[in-house]
Amino acid sequence: MTNATGPTERPRILLIGANGQVGWELRRTLAGLGEVIAASIEGGYGPIVDLIDQGLLAKLIQDSRPDAVVNAAAYTAVDKAETERAIAQRINADAVGELGALLAARGTPFIHYSTDFVFDGTSDRPYRETDTPNPLNVYGETKLGGETALLASGAPTLIFRTSWVYGSRGANFLLTMLRLFKEKDELRVVDDQIGSPTWSRMLAEVTALVLYRVLRGDLDLKAVGGLYHLTGTGEVSWYGFAKAILERSGLDCHLIPITSVDYPAPAKRPAYSVLDNAKFRETFGLWMPHWRESLEQCLELIPPSGT
Ligand SMILES: NC(=O)c1ccc[n+]([C@@H]2O[C@H](COP(=O)([O-])OP(=O)(O)OC[C@H]3O[C@@H](n4cnc5c(N)ncnc54)[C@H](OP(=O)(O)O)[C@@H]3O)[C@@H](O)[C@H]2O)c1
Repeated sequence: MTNATGPTERPRILLIGANGQVGWELRRTLAGLGEVIAASIEGGYGPIVDLIDQGLLAKLIQDSRPDAVVNAAAYTAVDKAETERAIAQRINADAVGELGALLAARGTPFIHYSTDFVFDGTSDRPYRETDTPNPLNVYGETKLGGETALLASGAPTLIFRTSWVYGSRGANFLLTMLRLFKEKDELRVVDDQIGSPTWSRMLAEVTALVLYRVLRGDLDLKAVGGLYHLTGTGEVSWYGFAKAILERSGLDCHLIPITSVDYPAPAKRPAYSVLDNAKFRETFGLWMPHWRESLEQCLELIPPSGT
């Protein structure tokens, strides 16, 4: 299927979770690589896939005969997961392990995403892939379960741990802030959690650049497969991120920095979850831009009335 100049037939790429923040961007960025089979829970763009349904996964793989699979679906409701452990476990861990086993049997490359929330936030430097995870919440535990199950499945896989994902579409901090700036004169934002905002579009662009090389046979996942940290460069608190959004939005709102103690939530969050991207850069020769640069580009895509 591959010769010295790349694939001889149009590769079939199964995208799972095609209607999420990252999935929606992947529909576009993967389209240049081959035929994208865009599966989602709603089924609007292609086949329906519900990761809760065990029987569906084998059928989906069998019917779509993919040359590669990208899974952007996940149970991402961090607070709700505290009371819905079984569902989060099924979607984020068990289903990912099952997909891994199905793809291991076929030798099909599998790209999957995980999270900074696998860490407890006590580090005094950006987390590396070799650091020991210790999730503080159910979401983090189940995502870590997915990583472990996938790595154990023997599938040729790349797992990209990312963080603080936002974009021009979906439920995210950027769009929430833009809406609240219009609705409120004053807003209290947590200033003691530090992380790296990641634009969903950049994540999708870089994923496609890596998958291109995998499909061409330029990257051997037996050699380079495994866990990678992949986030926007730089770090900031939620308050700092909100301030940067406000400055560029032209809107008016009084921002007040608060502590996590003043903003209780069902799920605990790490105080510091910056991920070191060095392994990704050195392996693939690709860089994620600084979060401020991506934020500016993303804001250009959002019409003033679009929030
Ligand atoms: N968002 C973040 O800040 C963040 C941070 C770190 C890592 N990540 C990881 O990055 C990846 C992409 O996240 P995202 O931000 O794009 O999340 P998202 O916008 O919440 O998208 C997740 C998608 O998964 C779908 N989904 C949920 N349950 C499903 C099921 N049972 N079967 C099939 N699809 C299902 C959702 O559909 P519905 O919306 O209809 O439920 C949604 O379209 C995930 O692996 C996530 O864990 C995200």
